[in-house]
Amino acid sequence: MDARVGKMQGPIELEAAVAAPNYAPLPVVLERGEGSWLWDADGKRYLDFMSAYSAVSHGHAHPRLVRALVEQAQRVAVTSRAYHSTELAPFLAKLVEVADLDGEARALPASGGCESVETAIKAARRWGYRAKGIDPGRAEIVVARGNFHGRSTTVVGFSSEDDYRADFGPFAPGFRHFDFGDITGLAEAIDENTCAVLIEPIQGEAGIVTPPPGFLRAARELCTERNVLLIVDEIQSGLGRTGAWFAYMHEGIRPDAVIVGKALGGGLLPVSAFVARAPVLDLMGPGSHGSTFGGNPLAARVALEALRVIEDEKLVERSQALGAHLLDRLRQLRSPLVRAVRGRGLWAGVELTPDVSARAIVERLAQRGVLTKDTHGTVIRFAPPLTIRREALDWGLDVFAAVLAEFDPRRAPFHDSGIPHISALAARRNDDVKAATRIERRARQSAHLMMSSPRHFEVSYAINPWMDPSQWSVSADRLADDARRGWAKLMATYERLGARVTAQDPVQGLPDLVFTANAAVVLDRKVLLARFLCEERRGEEPHNRRFFEALRERGFVDEVVDPPPGLFFEGAGDAIWDVSRGLIWTGYGQRSSREVHAAIESLYGVPTVPLELVDPRFYHLDTCFCVLSGGEVLWYPSAFSAESADAVRRVAGAGNLIEATDEDALHLGVNSVCLGRDVVMCHASDATRASLAARGYRVHVVPLDSFNRSGGAAYCLTLRLDNETRAADRGSDSDSDHEREFEQLRRAA
Ligand code: ARG
Repeated sequence: MDARVGKMQGPIELEAAVAAPNYAPLPVVLERGEGSWLWDADGKRYLDFMSAYSAVSHGHAHPRLVRALVEQAQRVAVTSRAYHSTELAPFLAKLVEVADLDGEARALPASGGCESVETAIKAARRWGYRAKGIDPGRAEIVVARGNFHGRSTTVVGFSSEDDYRADFGPFAPGFRHFDFGDITGLAEAIDENTCAVLIEPIQGEAGIVTPPPGFLRAARELCTERNVLLIVDEIQSGLGRTGAWFAYMHEGIRPDAVIVGKALGGGLLPVSAFVARAPVLDLMGPGSHGSTFGGNPLAARVALEALRVIEDEKLVERSQALGAHLLDRLRQLRSPLVRAVRGRGLWAGVELTPDVSARAIVERLAQRGVLTKDTHGTVIRFAPPLTIRREALDWGLDVFAAVLAEFDPRRAPFHDSGIPHISALAARRNDDVKAATRIERRARQSAHLMMSSPRHFEVSYAINPWMDPSQWSVSADRLADDARRGWAKLMATYERLGARVTAQDPVQGLPDLVFTANAAVVLDRKVLLARFLCEERRGEEPHNRRFFEALRERGFVDEVVDPPPGLFFEGAGDAIWDVSRGLIWTGYGQRSSREVHAAIESLYGVPTVPLELVDPRFYHLDTCFCVLSGGEVLWYPSAFSAESADAVRRVAGAGNLIEATDEDALHLGVNSVCLGRDVVMCHASDATRASLAARGYRVHVVPLDSFNRSGGAAYCLTLRLDNETRAADRGSDSDSDHEREFEQLRRAA
């Protein structure tokens, strides 16, 4: 079963090649939308439970909005604010009316929501200096921990989320934090230099986090008392999403200002605005601020129509009624995977236990035709269009309940057979389903992988039977091109599955550097560097050393160690960490020296099982042996000596062995990477696909033909940097027992 939902391969690959990788989209290629439904390029239909983060509250292609858009586009779309237009004032008048602030109010329009957050910051500071009398340069804004207000450098500067900030500083000063919902903390954060408190009434990105009842009201009173502006960011929560025009209305308060965006554009255009009491915005005179596209006639016309549709179709009331139903049904879910349900109106977050990956559930939902989105790895959010029909909502919730049942650890196919007790080493594995899912989750969520760009990849020498430089040169350009595409797709696949990839620079003249599995093996932040048998690859050694030394300096690893003198060792290609059994399988007889296993044992303090490779086509262990995260082993027995094949059977246990077909082996399909339930491979025979699926794995095929011509595939192109012995949740049997039994086994091997 491929996690990609549609059949068309083109757009995802192309996007991976041309789009900056700052998103990890679900593998769905959307082509058309109408109301609450979307269709992919293959015509498959999906229910939209996400509404583009609330931007599509009106549903897709709302006929009134499309009509307004088309009509206005044919009349005049953009004039800039150097002139007046017929459309701006009616739009802002309506917006000010629905915001219903205290006394007279004004609005300042822009496009993206974050622009209006910037407007809010500027206006608040100006008010602080000119109205409140804060000393020049001292104004501060108090924000909540866990906030999300956008992506500009100022705004991410006061985010508490590392991912949003890392390496984007230096950041603007002037922001103070308090714990969202904690009124005492808020009171302490405010002082005479505070010009504003900026908060989301419900924190969306943080996982639909609602503050305790009464918090907003108390914040309002506090701000009034301390002469501080209360600015509410309603970009996601506003315009009916929570069952009120604005979420602050649930507590019957009026903020000094509100930021509006997303749904304001009717799902057709980016339109945002900062709406504030007149004494705040009247300080923003000509020249103080502006936006070429802000409030343009096209945006203004569509936004006005969007506000009117909310009124005419009673979307606020619908959101309230259907939202109560949504939360009701979510709270009734009897799944051990659900830890909490939060939300208001048609906006809900289901927090899952750490035993399951929210991303995996969201992907499965997409396969079954329901589009949602995970946040923070554990929360799934639901935000259907406010126009959704009750039957559609119910259908989507039925699918959600069914998917949760599929992932219920009490019945998941991935674990139900357990790992049969076949040897002392296998017994190290904790059969407890919880532990296994924990390993699974860890494996998929935090995988840190090293890859190296194929820019200088080619086949210019032959050190294994797959390599034929004369064959390569016939169509070198095409093959190099194909390599680049395959590699980009492989990396995109890893990232889509939640892995982080660190790239090593390629070097001209070192074509096999691309096979990072051979650079070293890494476990518990200790790097054992490779020493290559073949002269052709020795040039990679100093380069690898520099790379890992740099990782050490940056704190990613602790130690960088050489193999013992005189021994050859080709890294993770011949040293495969088995997290379930807490051991390393090593390969010898072709490239790496047998004796290197002792060095591995003493460096990492884990047992090894050395395996002899007897077929030159399978010259690295990884070409014929792959350990899956649930403890199964995909292997090609004829590549091993009889004794070693026997050792595999005894240590892994017959029930865990999946025998690769000739077809798999001869396409290097065994050379695959397992991240949790997902197996990434360049080729899979029907038989192998079926046995992986039967064990609960999802197969992702990424063709890597050009690399096959060098004897490599997915695993060779990847080095896992975050292997940890701690992740192997062992049984309670005493260690010395294990050691003894292990010794016997190894002697047998
Ligand atoms: N041409 C390379 C070699 O023969 C391919 C290495 C593939 N890597 C692997 N881990 N199997 O060394």
